[in-house]
Amino acid sequence: MPSKLEKFAELNTFNNTFTFHHFDIPNGFSNKGKWHSEVFKNDHPIVLELGCGRGEYTIGLSENNVSKNFIGVDVKGNRIWTGAKHAIQKQMNHVAFLRTRIDIIDFCFSENEISEIWITFPDPQPQKNRARKRLTNPDFFLNRYKKILKPGGLIHLKTDNTFFYEYTMSVIEENHLPLVFATDDLYNNCPTDRKELTDIKTYYETLFTGRGERIKYCCFKLN
Ligand SMILES: C[S@@+](CC[C@H](N)C(=O)[O-])C[C@H]1O[C@@H](n2cnc3c(N)ncnc32)[C@H](O)[C@@H]1O
Repeated sequence: MPSKLEKFAELNTFNNTFTFHHFDIPNGFSNKGKWHSEVFKNDHPIVLELGCGRGEYTIGLSENNVSKNFIGVDVKGNRIWTGAKHAIQKQMNHVAFLRTRIDIIDFCFSENEISEIWITFPDPQPQKNRARKRLTNPDFFLNRYKKILKPGGLIHLKTDNTFFYEYTMSVIEENHLPLVFATDDLYNNCPTDRKELTDIKTYYETLFTGRGERIKYCCFKLN
């Protein structure tokens, strides 16, 4: 297994991985509004996995599904490396990775460029003074997703964390967001036609289920 530094170096050579820093904002991002035409070279829907880590959902959902494009987003390059390397080795041209802070996601994609969002095992950030870092915070994150997500686009959240699940459910309720499905015990309450919810397991999910944590899931829309 390569070291962190070797992964960073190799990541820079991957043609399926892009980086956008905060300090790049004044110059803009060349892929913004051009993911279909320049990156994927098709007009298929684009699915994002936010805080993708090693990209298990990006890879898992994209296998046997070439009718959509998939982008894993995370700030940590050494984690992204695992998914990006796999996608290159398997010649998955409908998969890409974006190394950036999700806080600036609306500088990376244009209005309506995204069809669906997955948030997989986000850091729960339970401390009050870190509320603005929660990936389902309505002011700091959902408003940004709204700028890039097509009307009616689904947001999926999978988490082991009771605090984060309940926080998100209260955000959905307080903001009158359409709730499609929710369960606080996914493995005992998974819809039969949604095998991807339990068949694909992320790195953190494997850790948490190993400790006996119940996995929670909700799916909602922004309008
Ligand atoms: C607990 S890990 C989960 C990783 C993966 N989804 C999994 O389930 O194994 C949370 C991930 O979110 C990323 N992350 C958290 N906040 C972020 C932000 N604001 N911008 C980009 N990545 C972020 C972290 O770098 C980390 O890889």
